Amino acid sequence: MSSYKAAFILLCTTACLAVPPPPGPNIVMMLVDDWGWANVGYHRNPPTKEVVTPNIDSLVRQGLELDQHYVFNVCSPSRSSLMSGRLPIHVNDLNIEPDYYNPDDPVSGFSAIPRNMTGIAQKMKLGGYDTHQVGKWDAGMATHTHTPKGRGFDSSFGYFHHANDFYTEIDGKPCNKTKIVDIWVTDKPGYGLNGTGPDNYEEGLFKEQLLKVVNEHDTGKPLFLYYAPHIVHAPLQVPQRYQDKFSFIDDHDRQIYHAMVNYLDDVVGELVDALKKKGLWENLLFVTSSDNGGPVYPGGGANNYPLKGGKASDWQGGIRSNAFVSGGYLPEKMRGKKLDGYIHLADWYATFCALANVDPTDEAAAKADLPPIDSLNMWPLISGETMTSPRVDIPISYKTLISGEYKILTGTNNQAGYTGPQYPNQTNPNGGINIFQQCGDGCLYNIMTDPEERVDLAAKMPDKLKEMQQKLAQYQKTHFAPDRGSPWPGACDAALNTYNGFWGPFVP
Ligand SMILES: *[C@@H]1O[C@H](CO)[C@@H](O)[C@H](O)[C@H]1NC(C)=O
Ligand SMILES: *[C@@H]1O[C@H](CO)[C@@H](O)[C@H](O)[C@H]1NC(C)=O
Ligand SMILES: *[C@@H]1O[C@H](CO)[C@@H](O)[C@H](O)[C@H]1NC(C)=O
Ligand SMILES: *[C@@H]1O[C@H](CO)[C@@H](O)[C@H](O)[C@H]1NC(C)=O
Repeated sequence: MSSYKAAFILLCTTACLAVPPPPGPNIVMMLVDDWGWANVGYHRNPPTKEVVTPNIDSLVRQGLELDQHYVFNVCSPSRSSLMSGRLPIHVNDLNIEPDYYNPDDPVSGFSAIPRNMTGIAQKMKLGGYDTHQVGKWDAGMATHTHTPKGRGFDSSFGYFHHANDFYTEIDGKPCNKTKIVDIWVTDKPGYGLNGTGPDNYEEGLFKEQLLKVVNEHDTGKPLFLYYAPHIVHAPLQVPQRYQDKFSFIDDHDRQIYHAMVNYLDDVVGELVDALKKKGLWENLLFVTSSDNGGPVYPGGGANNYPLKGGKASDWQGGIRSNAFVSGGYLPEKMRGKKLDGYIHLADWYATFCALANVDPTDEAAAKADLPPIDSLNMWPLISGETMTSPRVDIPISYKTLISGEYKILTGTNNQAGYTGPQYPNQTNPNGGINIFQQCGDGCLYNIMTDPEERVDLAAKMPDKLKEMQQKLAQYQKTHFAPDRGSPWPGACDAALNTYNGFWGPFVP
């Protein structure tokens, strides 16, 4: 505990009401898109010249590896979870487009996060933070409440859909044959930094915005910066000079994918330098996760070796994410270590609230009869105050549960296969990844002793299987599944008539 905090607690026993809480640390949350387990240097042993991430690896070496960090298997549910502090099954487990609307339900009849949940940035504002979002949103667009600004970000620069084009920013279905651009800047559409970024490549524009936010930050206040890179999501596009660095890779998708990872690593290097130069690093927590596993289906380019499956599957390759914390605020004694306690992406909500001295309870959601937060404060675990994670159960999805050392998967599970250390390769572009495993009412794995999910224990451990089935059934009863409607024509009306060819909120 810092002496500042100790002094505060001391004061608090006598004259708490008169003393404002001390400001929390600066926080940067980086949520990388579609980043495979084997697509970062610190997961490659022996190293490979295909995976070049020196800046990220150095953050990990000086930081704390989160080895059992879990996410949903696709983008929008993970992003909804992080921003709302709910497990995906309690906020959004659909990866639909942001133009859905059900006019009969003004609270939840939209894509992604219901209107009346309180976003993490709204909480950080209560803790005195300046809040900024850069990059992919994919957590709702229908009303102004659904936008980053509506969720508490002072500024935002990014796109609403799953992925736009890195050069034209076009995304979504055309409206009356007109292609629509997906770039939103705080409270209006616009090209933002068009023309100022290197190569006019979207990630370069995001980098310029990150540097702008950092350089212009008023250091009298703590900073909360949410950076959600477009990289390494499709389309596989990268400036030529990055592609050239990886020309030795035989497979086209793998070549571009690795070049994109390397591009991101350079952005991270520049961001960290800027934070240091600005004097923010010493009192900063840098949190990183992927939103789901790497896509290993054709056209994906990623690799989750040695884990099973990938993005859009509940195997470990789809849900166990690259994750770490770094930065000067991390206690000295935790640096260079690896943490194996369970953390879910939803847990950052309560963790950030705790660091900001803010109550994480979501009153607005309670008023609207919505599920409460699931988020658990992980700071005692991350700071080394306790050794065990408060999270024992991770309901991954409606059909999959982790509890203790065990994991149950039910129903049909795709991608029940493995890739080699190099994937895809030209002799085997599909890698047998379109393999289906029928789990029916339960496949059972011990993911501590069998992290590659090779031995199904269901027949051997009937009691454990039954216990897991019962627990999963309990969670299924709490499934939040409102009718979100269908693609709403009003979204195109707004794009064509209100926003001059850009996507934006379309429900008043
Ligand atoms: C940049 O702006 C020009 C017009 O000035 C426009 O034609 C182009 O599509 C924009 N591109 C991006 C990536 O913003
Ligand atoms: C939900 O939020 C909207 C917009 O902020 C508000 O007008 C409405 O009263 C809220 N609904 C409930 C049930 O709290
Ligand atoms: C090619 O991919 C397959 C799996 O898809 C893998 O078993 C094999 O090792 C790979 N070959 C090389 C040279 O990496
Ligand atoms: C699309 O075109 C049709 C036919 O020209 C027109 O009636 C309609 O209003 C247009 N829709 C929008 C959103 O502009």
